[in-house]
Amino acid sequence: MDDNKLLTLANGDRIRLLRHCAMLFEVFDLQYASPATISRCGMVYVDPKNLGYRPFYDRWVRDKQAKYSEVMGESLNELYLKYVPILIDRIFEGTSGEEILEPMKFITPRTNLNLVQQLTTLIDSMLPEPSDNVPQEVDQLERLYVFCVVWSIGGALMAEERDKFSDFIKTSCGLMLGSSSLYDNYYDMDSKSYVLWDRKVPEYTPPANRKFNQILVPTSDTVRYSWLLNQIMALKKPCMFVGDSGTAKTVTIYSQFKSMSMDKYLVLTINFSSRTASSDFQKNFEENIDKRTFKQYGPKSAGKQLILFIDDLNMPKIDKYGTQQPNALLKFLVERNQLYQRGGDLELREIVDTQYVGSMTPPGGGNNKVDPRLMSLYSCFNITFPTNLAIQKIYASILEKHVTEFADEVKGIVEKITSATLNLYFQICEKLPRTPVKFHYIFNLRDLSRVYEGLTLSTLDKFQTRDSIIRLWRNECMRVFSDRLVNETDRSLVNDQLIV
Ligand SMILES: Nc1ncnc2c1ncn2[C@@H]1O[C@H](COP(=O)(O)OP(=O)(O)O)[C@@H](O)[C@H]1O
Ligand SMILES: [Mg+2]
Repeated sequence: MDDNKLLTLANGDRIRLLRHCAMLFEVFDLQYASPATISRCGMVYVDPKNLGYRPFYDRWVRDKQAKYSEVMGESLNELYLKYVPILIDRIFEGTSGEEILEPMKFITPRTNLNLVQQLTTLIDSMLPEPSDNVPQEVDQLERLYVFCVVWSIGGALMAEERDKFSDFIKTSCGLMLGSSSLYDNYYDMDSKSYVLWDRKVPEYTPPANRKFNQILVPTSDTVRYSWLLNQIMALKKPCMFVGDSGTAKTVTIYSQFKSMSMDKYLVLTINFSSRTASSDFQKNFEENIDKRTFKQYGPKSAGKQLILFIDDLNMPKIDKYGTQQPNALLKFLVERNQLYQRGGDLELREIVDTQYVGSMTPPGGGNNKVDPRLMSLYSCFNITFPTNLAIQKIYASILEKHVTEFADEVKGIVEKITSATLNLYFQICEKLPRTPVKFHYIFNLRDLSRVYEGLTLSTLDKFQTRDSIIRLWRNECMRVFSDRLVNETDRSLVNDQLIV
């Protein structure tokens, strides 16, 4: 645009802005703005440091005060002062009392305001309605508050920071919170105390249709992450799972969807890939919504809520200007619940009864970084890798349930098969690291699942002896692991393990 407000487009079209027109651009940085643009525009730079997160919290407290009582407002302020600034300073600046330590790291970039927003969301999701006997005094609220702090301010911290964070809270709060990590505990509203997540893990029952890809063995990880997802979704707010490939993000999210009433919800899953274009995404989404009233669009069955689940959200390729185009569109949609019609009259459409869930791998190691302004719209949780004990439990349960009707000889061996498989898997992870030449040496739970998928294809009539099932197991391990290895040395490492 030139000084006379004449905008010249790439195709030669010219648009003259009228005297009373002005354009306001909201940008993250000016990396791609030419000096000519910068010199013509009035720039307003807002440093997030100057505003801080307090005004946001104050406003939220005012809402709570109006909804519940004065006492509630005072308690929330008191708890805020006791925890929030101290913890945020510990994370971002590394200050611990007089000492200065390493700042803590997040799995995906988060700002202090994001954390406080997530905190208020979680508290909202846990507080009962005013008509039900709501705890309002500081001492009644404190444990609940600490629980919410852990899963908001500490929700997206790297796995190795979790213990440090939990210990820091314990030392600074002075409550008796038990010896286990705060991350391992759940706040039970009825008994007003902490209960280990382990206690909430239900017994595993195989899916009725015996489809392997629908198997989910409940573990404390799956239970707590689906609980968190459920809390955030109940408020119709966006929720994001961030974790390495093979940490069960997708299966956990699906199992949570499955447990929800399909009379009320419709789910639309879109898998993003490096080839997804923003028009693909928009087309796919628009096929799943209908016109309601003038300019208003919503899910195809009226009365239902549409859940848009974007899997692998960080996959789209980054264009020449550093943008992931489908994600730029997604940001517009999540932030405003609006979408422009493509072509036609470019009508601005309002999207109703839709909420958002996402999952992605953390940036780094070849994975794309996602625009922090998109991430800030979501409540984010770091999905940690299951512990060895949990992995053992998952696969032992799958096989044990599968062989319940098999001969005793076969039943007797399955425990050994599981420990041998895990042994093999851990050895491979340790001894065969990924290198530039062996860039496909990525081993995770998916591979274990492949072995077990093969094992669960065994049938009662064909596998009556110990040897037959061992032969099957060896074959599965060879196909899943050995066949991928590039040289004899690596292969013999695996094959030696298979001779038992
Ligand atoms: N609790 C569990 N029960 C059964 N299978 C699991 C469990 N956790 C992980 N898996 C298996 O691990 C693999 C990876 O899970 P997935 O959800 O695809 O990971 P992600 O989406 O995080 O990359 C899947 O094959 C899944 O079957
Ligand atoms: Mg996945």
